[in-house]
Amino acid sequence: MIEVLRGIDFELHAGESVSVRGQSGSGKTTLLNVLAGLDRPDSGELWWNNEPAHLLSLGDLTARRGRFLGLVFQAYYLIPEIDALANVLMGARVVGPVGPTERERAASLLQRVGLAERASHLPAHLSGGERQRVALARALMNRPRVILADEPTGNLDEHTADDVIELLLQVCAEKGAALVLVTHNPAYAGRTGRQLVLHEGILA
Ligand SMILES: Nc1ncnc2c1ncn2[C@@H]1O[C@H](COP(=O)(O)OP(=O)(O)OP(=O)(O)O)[C@@H](O)[C@H]1O
Ligand SMILES: [Mg+2]
Repeated sequence: MIEVLRGIDFELHAGESVSVRGQSGSGKTTLLNVLAGLDRPDSGELWWNNEPAHLLSLGDLTARRGRFLGLVFQAYYLIPEIDALANVLMGARVVGPVGPTERERAASLLQRVGLAERASHLPAHLSGGERQRVALARALMNRPRVILADEPTGNLDEHTADDVIELLLQVCAEKGAALVLVTHNPAYAGRTGRQLVLHEGILA
């Protein structure tokens, strides 16, 4: 057995932005997965909004996650068969029925990320930066308190990456969502309010 995270004590305040850097294999993704309740730590507690998430059943945890957190990944994870708008709406579908209100919100989020004209395009017909913008709009769909982003620019060229980070920071601030940004890029890390480095499972 490999011990990945050790004695992590991490608190994220409302509206705060935090970056996490660290070598490959240092446990950044594992940390985000624990924060997202996707991985259960062998010991310790996870609190979301003053609620003990580590005590929730899997079903309750999933339901809470859908409302409390927005997730953005390096590989976007869009559904290839459905268009950009429908992908954004998937954010809402995981927590409840989708009606005109949700459709309107999805469209306005697409507009916010600069993709109003791409609403009916399939992911395959979008550039990497555009796909990540769709993923960001999807993450924002349920007005999450927190966005967790795991190397969201890892697949993008430098210029596109700059734009996506700019947008991510702006939109989180605008919507009042706290942000945990995992990035290898020191310049991006420097843009967040607090900067952490993960080294061999210890957060500094
Ligand atoms: N599903 C898994 N099962 C067993 N070990 C895992 C699993 N996922 C990750 N690990 C191990 O946990 C450690 C931390 O991995 P993690 O993916 O969190 O690193 P990371 O900091 O995100 O790296 P990278 O920068 O390459 O994405 C590594 O030693 C890895 O081999
Ligand atoms: Mg990783």
